[in-house]
Amino acid sequence: MRILIVGNGGREHALLWKLRRDLPSAEFHVTRPNGGMTGVRPVEIAPTDLEALSGFAASRRMDLTVVGPEAPLAMGIADRFRKKGLPVFGPSKAAARIESSKAYAKALMESAGVPTAGYRTFTDREEAVDHLREVGAPIVVKASGLAAGKGAVVCTTVEEAEQAVASMMDDFAFGEAGREVVIEDFMEGEELSVFGIANGEEVVLLPPAQDHKRVGEGDTGPNTGGMGAYAPVSIAEPALMTRVREEVFLPTLRAMAEDDAPFRGLLYAGLMLTPEGPKVVEFNCRFGDPETQVVLPMMESSLLDLLMAAVDGDPLSHREVRFRDGAALTTVVASGGYPGSYPKGKTIDLGRVQESDDLLVFHAGTARGDTGLTTSGGRVLAVTGLGPDLESAARRSREGAAAVEFEGAFHRTDIGWRELARIQGEQR
Ligand code: GLY
Repeated sequence: MRILIVGNGGREHALLWKLRRDLPSAEFHVTRPNGGMTGVRPVEIAPTDLEALSGFAASRRMDLTVVGPEAPLAMGIADRFRKKGLPVFGPSKAAARIESSKAYAKALMESAGVPTAGYRTFTDREEAVDHLREVGAPIVVKASGLAAGKGAVVCTTVEEAEQAVASMMDDFAFGEAGREVVIEDFMEGEELSVFGIANGEEVVLLPPAQDHKRVGEGDTGPNTGGMGAYAPVSIAEPALMTRVREEVFLPTLRAMAEDDAPFRGLLYAGLMLTPEGPKVVEFNCRFGDPETQVVLPMMESSLLDLLMAAVDGDPLSHREVRFRDGAALTTVVASGGYPGSYPKGKTIDLGRVQESDDLLVFHAGTARGDTGLTTSGGRVLAVTGLGPDLESAARRSREGAAAVEFEGAFHRTDIGWRELARIQGEQR
């Protein structure tokens, strides 16, 4: 079987790792593989070059293409592949609007009765500012389009919110993505990431995870692409997950199918667990990063079978999906300066990292060249520890992250702190 993976970050490395476990005999092709994606055939095509990628997949007869990042999905990679009869895991351009247009996602949720924060959408800056002044803070200002995870600003004052609107609508801080803004009520609670593999109608939910977006210990400092994650999350009890399936995923899938945009791919619900129940903060149309680096290592049954079933539109409801007991926790090792500017090309020494079944190293911003392994991005590696409980998974992950050596390397030492505090509270 020939499998093409589009994308080369930590998420795609975790996808490669899992799919290779599911089918070791498969031949893997990866767009511009990072330094850790060994044993694959490199494809020197950018993920957003849809013409070249679909031509490559057709000429090399790929049996499956798995798309990691949102940008090619929002551009319509899945439509282009399907038109050529190429099996692809990922939603159509119309369905990817669930992530690429916050305004579309909010309107869909409203019409489907999916719980989410109250909101209004604006294309006129003055109207947006008048609204902010009327409703006051705290409030959330979001660029409607794709903004690499940075387009949502939680504002504690009206002045901050006005600045956020100005940076999006006047200064085009997020380019076209900020032409339309969504202004949302602030929601209080803990966040939860839930992945669902969907075939257009049905969905299989994977274990819930929680990520840490802020750069600093205790969830402080600027937002990043994600500094770590863990799974499962104990507050996401079975009864809550039933609500998430019935109140969030199923009505969303129904509404999208009715809207001629059936969702086939990975639907990621970013939820807020509010006192009134789970509410959607945002939907994404692809696997999350770094949650994938903990969710997939927990999965014992085949991911490949599920992806193929979703691609073929086969029933999902009776499939047996097994996850290991215990927990997984990943710690991201980043380049000094991230999420601001940072140097590249620093030599990485992994000699002290003891990889095993319970310690996995997923590469993100790494490159392999004549001088060995070097850094090539802000988030360099994700070190995932697994164990019978979260404490042991955390210990393994933190020890592994501390053993990674390159100039300027840093990581958070408190990933999973909320859950660990809960566990300690229960033990008292
Ligand atoms: N973990 C956040 C994201 O993937 O968007």
